[in-house]
Amino acid sequence: MTVTVERLGADYFQDPHSVHARLQAQRPVSPVIMPGGTPAWLVTGYAEARAALADPRLRKTMPGWHPEPDSIFAALDLHMLNSDPPDHERLRRLVNKAFTARRVERLRPRITAITAELLDDMSTQPEVDLLASFAFPLPITVICELLGVPVADRDDFRTWSATIVSDTAIPGVFQAHATAMIRYFMALLAAKRHEPADDLLSALIAARDEGDRLSENELVSMAFLLLVAGHETTVNLIGNGVLALLLNPAELARLRADSALIGGAVEELLRHENPVNNATFRCAAEPVEIGGVRIGRGDPVLVALSSANRDPSRFGDPDRLDLGRDSSGHLAFGHGIHYCLGAPLARLEAEIAFSHLLARFGSMRLAVPAGSLRWRPSTLIHGLESLPVRLVP
Ligand code: HEM
Repeated sequence: MTVTVERLGADYFQDPHSVHARLQAQRPVSPVIMPGGTPAWLVTGYAEARAALADPRLRKTMPGWHPEPDSIFAALDLHMLNSDPPDHERLRRLVNKAFTARRVERLRPRITAITAELLDDMSTQPEVDLLASFAFPLPITVICELLGVPVADRDDFRTWSATIVSDTAIPGVFQAHATAMIRYFMALLAAKRHEPADDLLSALIAARDEGDRLSENELVSMAFLLLVAGHETTVNLIGNGVLALLLNPAELARLRADSALIGGAVEELLRHENPVNNATFRCAAEPVEIGGVRIGRGDPVLVALSSANRDPSRFGDPDRLDLGRDSSGHLAFGHGIHYCLGAPLARLEAEIAFSHLLARFGSMRLAVPAGSLRWRPSTLIHGLESLPVRLVP
């Protein structure tokens, strides 16, 4: 049988689910062409995705995959999500403690206060862009405070980071924004070294300066990863989640009627409309067979998390949003050694965000036709450009 190679482009950004469903019905691993022209394997089946994420032969570090060590871009590259053991373990261990469910629970009062403040501001306007007014400022404020990054600079990172995760950035713009991000972190870390504060970046500088556990580039890369992963994702859990609820009014009413559903609802919203569409690239360090498909040495592999989460062999009637279903085992936070470090923080933020938003506004509806909403041009991130809503207390 001839296999057609799927080109991932504008249509895929706008509706990844129908592309995934079509590919998944044919085979669990398909050849694709990325928007930039690179060929890759897309793993769409649930069992195969889970196996691929846990397979040590699919690695993050391969010759030719990373910037030269003396290039300025090495300063964004040496983080845990781009590393294999043993570096991965060393880098993750340095920050693990700050993100455990117990430590994160201590942030509940502050996250609740930030949420209340944002909702107060929104209640003065009949119509808002929920992303700009709520879904973005909440997680970015939380992660900035945790790291010790000035919240006032958030619009700058939003621009730089959106370019870095986009698949359609013009090379010159990508270069300029990545360089701006690196310079920003270098200056911030220099200032903190001079005047440490009670924050995670100061703690990481102390860990680095006490021994050779973190190189300077690893330090900048860690700050970059935590800041970008800490907000590019949760913003879309809130945005995609609110949209899914607005498009499924019976489920929204169910959640309003029973606040105890919130924990399961967050899991189902993660499963149903993944904030991270595909995991980051892996590379086959040796020939590997997944789902009966032979992947050659050096081939790039992309695990389609949102496809796995809608695999009918794992989740019955997968396209249906059902806040009461058991969504456990979903892959929205990945799987294996790179399983999301920030999952407890993301869950807490989402739980507070959804429950307070619904409690404050008894009525909420889309301010534009659903068909006019646009998704961001990224194969990695699945998030809306904007979400105009009308709110009534
Ligand atoms: C809804 C929100 C979030 C989602 C859906 C999400 C999703 C993911 C996924 C899928 C991965 C694995 C990627 C891969 O294997 O290629 C990951 C890794 C990671 N996430 Fe999250 N994330 C979220 C929030 C956060 C937050 C709030 C932080 C806080 C700093 C964070 C920090 C990280 C880090 C550091 C890694 C790399 C872990 C490693 O390589 O060991 N994430 N995340």
